[in-house]
Amino acid sequence: MNYEELSEKAIQAKSKAYPPYSKFHVGAALLTSKNKLYLGGNIETPSYSLTICAERTAVFKAFSEGERKFKAIALASDAPGFCSPCGACRQVLLDLCGDIDVVMVNKKKELKVMKLSKLIPFAFGDKDLI
Ligand code: THU
Repeated sequence: MNYEELSEKAIQAKSKAYPPYSKFHVGAALLTSKNKLYLGGNIETPSYSLTICAERTAVFKAFSEGERKFKAIALASDAPGFCSPCGACRQVLLDLCGDIDVVMVNKKKELKVMKLSKLIPFAFGDKDLI
């Protein structure tokens, strides 16, 4: 699966997002090293801070199915620009998926690809644990 196809999956995942409060729909498509796909949308609750982002929905779905190796994650929103992962998601993605490609797709279906380590430089990680 190429990154254009992965982005299409993120756009599809967006339609299952549940953001009744912010109305900001985000979709994520996570690709494993064996080309399996896990989709996620953001899910908001009335206790706003308990909201989960699309990226973490996808990662936790994959992890709970036993997946441990990943290639890339694509992200889509309805904003005109590129939706980049929030700080919490950057940390979780790095912790659980390693230095994968983050593929951001905008409304014109243009792609921006960045390595996670570029998005979260000098990150804390298991190397830092004693
Ligand atoms: N959101 C995501 O799902 N992923 C991001 O990378 C940025 C933000 C969600 C969280 C919340 O439901 C809504 O977008 C507005 O912040």
